[in-house]
Amino acid sequence: MASTDVDRIKEKLNIVDFIRGYITLLPAGKNFKALCPFHPEKTPSFIVSPDRQRFHCFGCAADGDIVTFLMRYENLEFPEALRVLAEKAGVPLQTLSPREQREFGVLYEIHEKAKEFYRDALQTHGAARAYIEKRGLKPETVEAFELGFAPGGDALTVHLINSGFDVNDIARAGLTHKNTAGLYRDHFFNRIIFPIMNSVGKTVAFTGRLLEGAAGEGSDLPAKASSPAIALATEGAAAGAPKYLNSPETPIFNKSKILYGFHMTKNDIAHARSALFVEGQMDLLMAWQAGVKNVVAVSGTALTPFHLEKLRRLADTMILSFDNDEAGIHALERSLDLLNNFDFYVKVADLGGFKDPAEAAEKDPGFLAGAVASAKAAFSHLFAHYFPRDEAGTRELTETKRIVRSILQKIKRLKSATEQTAWLKGLAKYSGISEVMLMKELNELPMVPRDVEAGEKFEPKKPADRADALAERLMGLAFTKGDFLATIREKQSWLPARYQAVLGEPEGETGAALQMQASYLLAQFPPDCIAKEFSDLLRQLEISVLKREQRELKTAIQKAEEVGDEKLLTRAAERFHSLSKRIDELKL
Ligand code: CTP
Ligand code: MN
Repeated sequence: MASTDVDRIKEKLNIVDFIRGYITLLPAGKNFKALCPFHPEKTPSFIVSPDRQRFHCFGCAADGDIVTFLMRYENLEFPEALRVLAEKAGVPLQTLSPREQREFGVLYEIHEKAKEFYRDALQTHGAARAYIEKRGLKPETVEAFELGFAPGGDALTVHLINSGFDVNDIARAGLTHKNTAGLYRDHFFNRIIFPIMNSVGKTVAFTGRLLEGAAGEGSDLPAKASSPAIALATEGAAAGAPKYLNSPETPIFNKSKILYGFHMTKNDIAHARSALFVEGQMDLLMAWQAGVKNVVAVSGTALTPFHLEKLRRLADTMILSFDNDEAGIHALERSLDLLNNFDFYVKVADLGGFKDPAEAAEKDPGFLAGAVASAKAAFSHLFAHYFPRDEAGTRELTETKRIVRSILQKIKRLKSATEQTAWLKGLAKYSGISEVMLMKELNELPMVPRDVEAGEKFEPKKPADRADALAERLMGLAFTKGDFLATIREKQSWLPARYQAVLGEPEGETGAALQMQASYLLAQFPPDCIAKEFSDLLRQLEISVLKREQRELKTAIQKAEEVGDEKLLTRAAERFHSLSKRIDELKL
């Protein structure tokens, strides 16, 4: 059993020494305390106990042992964390359960093998190498980030099967799938391959970029069938293949958690306490190549609290450099709120006339370093964008109003009053609207509509009715604190079934989304405010449960009247009455 491995690791490694390698620990009696690495805070509530060999955070309820710490800190799955620790402890791993081997181990192995295959394929594919060269990528960069090429057809599938892997595992890794004719086909087809590594450098997924000028995904050349078992299909030309394609999510790849290039750049980020944040793989590689080594990117997804939780431990400043167009500005505005919640200082690197960081780095290798050095505060950037000097007065009043409101909304969310005042001044200067008026408008704005805000991206599903909506918020809050979770467990039966299921399996998809929402809420509200919200919601949930029972009773009472069942009638009426009393109490 895996637990014996854990025991042997724990005998060799002391949790205090281990965690000290990641964060600064201060003595606190017989324990140690630190600023919690799992939620933003200014006073330490993270405790490490040498006696219990566990950590606990009183702010965010993070709790666990050395393995849990590493899993959470480095974003690793259990077997991977175990491997890292075993190596560190000098303990040979005896057993991973067969299930764990199957679930995870083989997926890592398949990705490693696939990466090598793609890398070799690039060497022999002239057009792919020419494309990479044309984009300005140097051999050192290609090598450092282990880029490759996916020829497609069934080439990878066959190679992996010949290397001894089960086709079902290759499919689970997201690298092959059955087509409509029931034949296995590679997931990536005629694409430049960017391996995606986790924080410790293990390949967990790929991104593929279509070779420019090449036809779409399904329209590859009829390839040579290389195995009778996996004959090739000639699929019809599927138009509109996406320019970039990611691996699907698998047990080892969750794209809302992973940062592209991070394993290569995290030390530079930690050293600079800041990072250049870009949108795409090419942007990252080109910036890195141009000497901006503290750079990070997401892969084909919006920024999430998971990404920021990870970055916040290493850096205080994020310098955004998104595409130089309307879409880029919108991405910037969306990211700004989240970044402010995590208390980052946010700047924007101006790209001048270049369309994105990759182009800037390609055409003028010194440009990005300069743009990073002279990056302006994000608010200044927004002001300059929305109120350009030469267009003053030409905009519709309603449009100006909309822009001012949306910027005010962002200012309102800032935690520091000093910052708020400073940016109000700036907005006044740029918009020509007096500070007094802006202040008045700011005060009148509703506090950010929390449900909408927290729900927008992280809500697993739109709640269907009131009980659902309440349950959803309660569950989000439950994951902020162990006590809350315990309370919710006691009141399980009040929850709609799918939320009860989450309690049984908090690491499932819905649970993960709710936990993400929790870290978001924690970043945003003081703990006492969260406690009050929790008890309010719990009360409202109880009321909605009681009301539902009353509705059912009403039907029962009607039926009892129709058939003249006096006994049932009395009982139902009594119950109805006592429910009313309880509801009144709860409403007080
Ligand atoms: N992206 C994606 N799917 C797409 C298009 C884009 O996942 N169909 C992601 C990729 O990670 C991409 C990023 O969004 O890098 C930014 O998109 P875009 O600006 O279109 O890509 P570029 O990096 O500019 O692509 P290239 O320079 O290779 O044309
Ligand atoms: Mn771009």
